[in-house]
Amino acid sequence: MSKLTIVAFDGTRHDLDVQDGTTVMENAVRKAIPGIEAECGGACACATCHVYVDDAWTAAVGAPEAMEEDMLDFAFDVRPTSRLSCQIKMSPALDGLVVHVPERQA
Ligand code: FES
Repeated sequence: MSKLTIVAFDGTRHDLDVQDGTTVMENAVRKAIPGIEAECGGACACATCHVYVDDAWTAAVGAPEAMEEDMLDFAFDVRPTSRLSCQIKMSPALDGLVVHVPERQA
């Protein structure tokens, strides 16, 4: 079990207790957090689960792999901290992770 905080675009913080091995997207969808659409269900094929990793967590989360980077080209307002949340798997190393939901998805 790890802590995950998803900050909605309106600033609302959603503090979740999540199972390690689940993705950030799965937890956002399960809790119906606004702004995460996840149309492809986690297949890295839609870019509608885009989030910004909090600055304090970018090193721990790491960089996207090539396929994810290609999909990010379709996301709205991509920044250096952008990731697809279906590609971020929770683990003890990410206990306390904070991500921010963008203004809108692609
Ligand atoms: S859910 Fe489609 S790319 Fe993440």
